[in-house]
Amino acid sequence: MSTTFRQARWNEPSLFEYNGRGRIGHVVPEAEKEIKKDLGDITNLVPASLLRSSLNLPELSEVEVVRHYIRLSQTNYCVDLGIYPLGSCTMKYNPKINDSIVSLDSATMMHPYQDESTAQGSLEIMYKLSKWLASITGTYRVTLQPAAGAHGEYTGVLIIRAFHRANKEGDKRTEMIIPDSAHGTNPASAAMAGFSIVVLPSGKDGCIDVEGLKSVVSEKTAGLMLTNPNTLGIFEKDIREIAKVVHEAGGLLYYDGANLNAILGKVRPGDMGFDVVHLNLHKTFSTPHGGGGPGSGPVGVCRALDRFLPIPVVDYRAGEYCLDYDRPESIGKVKGYYGNFGVFLRSFAYILSLGSEGLEETSEIATLNANYIAKKLLGVRGYALPYDPGKPRKHECVFSATPMASDTGVRALNVAKRLLDSGMHPPTNYFPQIVDEALMIEPTDTETKEEMDRFIDAMKQISEEAYNTPQTVMSSPHNTTVTKIDEVKAAHPKTMALSWKMYKQQKSNP
Ligand SMILES: Cc1ncc(COP(=O)(O)O)c(C=O)c1O
Repeated sequence: MSTTFRQARWNEPSLFEYNGRGRIGHVVPEAEKEIKKDLGDITNLVPASLLRSSLNLPELSEVEVVRHYIRLSQTNYCVDLGIYPLGSCTMKYNPKINDSIVSLDSATMMHPYQDESTAQGSLEIMYKLSKWLASITGTYRVTLQPAAGAHGEYTGVLIIRAFHRANKEGDKRTEMIIPDSAHGTNPASAAMAGFSIVVLPSGKDGCIDVEGLKSVVSEKTAGLMLTNPNTLGIFEKDIREIAKVVHEAGGLLYYDGANLNAILGKVRPGDMGFDVVHLNLHKTFSTPHGGGGPGSGPVGVCRALDRFLPIPVVDYRAGEYCLDYDRPESIGKVKGYYGNFGVFLRSFAYILSLGSEGLEETSEIATLNANYIAKKLLGVRGYALPYDPGKPRKHECVFSATPMASDTGVRALNVAKRLLDSGMHPPTNYFPQIVDEALMIEPTDTETKEEMDRFIDAMKQISEEAYNTPQTVMSSPHNTTVTKIDEVKAAHPKTMALSWKMYKQQKSNP
């Protein structure tokens, strides 16, 4: 393990704090004349009372700007640098070729208001992608509109609501059942759509307790939201029985497809009995996850729910690709234009290049990798694998640092911070909430055995340290640009400086 890892430390000021005034990058004299003329024209159009004499923007030379951003990039961590085993978030390496495809002129120069006849290629890609996703998920039709997983969830529960309303049961079916292992966005999306949430405790094996489910379904049940494998990385073996219970009660089954990377080509949500499915293209299908987007959360539905999908639906009729707005029972539009096209393109390229066998293989490797780490860490002092440790995991495994915390005071958060000292991103911690001191590890299909071994060694070394020199772990990280921070202050909106103005105010009035 490389405890010698040192991140570049730059005492880098913000661009506004550079001293230079009047410094600029390249100036092309002819262009400068044009710009001055355009500026003059614009200035003449704006009333004098609204004009500012100075914008107070930083003025720097090209070399200063380049060095500024390179230094910042060196103080950051990213999936291009090393393992990023953030469970549930699926931070996998994405082929760079798919990024280059997105930057082609034919993609970037398109305009959403272009006539359909001039956008046949883009519409074809959207049509085919939605068909492929329908076939991967076992659903009837897929909308590509939603911009993220949570947005897909919200779209999906609106479709469930529309279904019950169309059946004149909208007032009656007010409850959405959600297991306690669910991602926080599930109850949030259902609540936003007006449902009240019924929390279903997991059974001793970490899965849904079917008897418990039977006791909460009723004529009020609108649906059940579930991810399978669940957030413990465990496959819900009773899924058919679960689907039967919910359907017999008149509810619908919603699949949170954020964990689809575990089952690609193996089993389809539609075949398990799910009626509505969302996917996170920005996890499973080659768009980086995180950094605020753009993302894409397509939603697939069974045939009975097709009429409620958002408009427009991309279709193929009489030899032409088209946008169909003539769907009177649609829930309406959920996104400006048609969704995040760049993300569609990456997914299209990814699926095309891997084919069905390749996709299946990614799930096999993701599962193999998660189980490799689970096996290697099982029995390491201080870490426990709750919920049937002998059971194979799918794409992720969730350890608990509770034994370490009670023996030494070193908590999951400290383990996570100490990993940074080895030049590795920590796993997700404190989620799912049904695991105390959770360390949720998802290596994904793109990590090598050597990189996973480095991670396993680092986890073992932290365990040694926790029992011998706990203070080293508790005061970490030591080797990063920013060392131990005040977690509460860092997450408090009042202390965060999100703009230059806020930063200045805080500096003058600490
Ligand atoms: C299981 C699960 N469901 C839903 C989501 C929400 O997806 P998004 O972050 O795109 O809104 C996530 C995100 O990580 C997730 O892990």
